[in-house]
Amino acid sequence: MANLLDVQSVRAGYGSINVLWDMTLGIPEGKLTCILGPNGGGKTTLLRTIMGLIPASAGNVSFEGRDCTNEKTWNMVSQGVVMIPEGRMIFRDMTVEDNLLVGAFPKKCRARYKQNLDMAYQMFPRLKERRDQLASSLSGGEAQMLAMGRGLMEEPKVILVDEPSLGLAPVIVDEVMGILDNLRNQGRTIVLVEQNTNKALAIADHVHLVRGGKVVLSQDADQVDLAHLHDLYFARDHQNAS
Ligand SMILES: Nc1ncnc2c1ncn2[C@@H]1O[C@H](COP(=O)(O)OP(=O)(O)OP(=O)(O)O)[C@@H](O)[C@H]1O
Ligand SMILES: [Mg+2]
Repeated sequence: MANLLDVQSVRAGYGSINVLWDMTLGIPEGKLTCILGPNGGGKTTLLRTIMGLIPASAGNVSFEGRDCTNEKTWNMVSQGVVMIPEGRMIFRDMTVEDNLLVGAFPKKCRARYKQNLDMAYQMFPRLKERRDQLASSLSGGEAQMLAMGRGLMEEPKVILVDEPSLGLAPVIVDEVMGILDNLRNQGRTIVLVEQNTNKALAIADHVHLVRGGKVVLSQDADQVDLAHLHDLYFARDHQNAS
């Protein structure tokens, strides 16, 4: 099957600092693809480049076979590419429900906001209980669920989730991973950026290890040799230490 999303030889960075070096990877439809890698490896930069939040200076990004390199972020969202950012980025001074309704704003899904709100509440019953509370009053796990619920309100074809487990207690991490697992089992396409290798491998179909702005390993999750993965994962830290 063709990939839903393709990143081909992409270079990108911030000003004069290049971060991604000819990065190539494909995201197959209906699968959960995990992007693993150490701090500063370029995982978030990759997602930002796909979303058009920072420009690619070389290479191509395509979605459903159409070139969308350096497309406006808004157009990526309306085509069905949705990012749930690192740090969740919820609107703390708005209620839980209003945060979800922000996700219903794209024109293509505005008419179905009620069904989508019901779907979000069904998936995250705790958000329903807290619908009138300010988002600032949510726990870390609930805030992550709110960020995911808002993303789902946008009717994504592919969901890019950046480190959803960051700062959460292990039991809540399991809950978040379970939700992502379910979403994939419902046929959704998910890109999960994680540092929690074991938890990510338990639900992933495919794995890409990103280090130093490059993909250093691409494998089916059930083929991964953990010792080899860890060697590749930590090599950068060894270099830094020397
Ligand atoms: N806004 C920015 N301006 C300048 N440099 C940046 C910016 N954001 C990230 N970088 C740099 O780009 C490199 C890659 O960062 P990126 O955030 O993509 O890494 P990451 O793999 O997501 O790491 P983490 O696991 O810590 O989230 C790092 O060296 C970082 O310092
Ligand atoms: Mg990051």
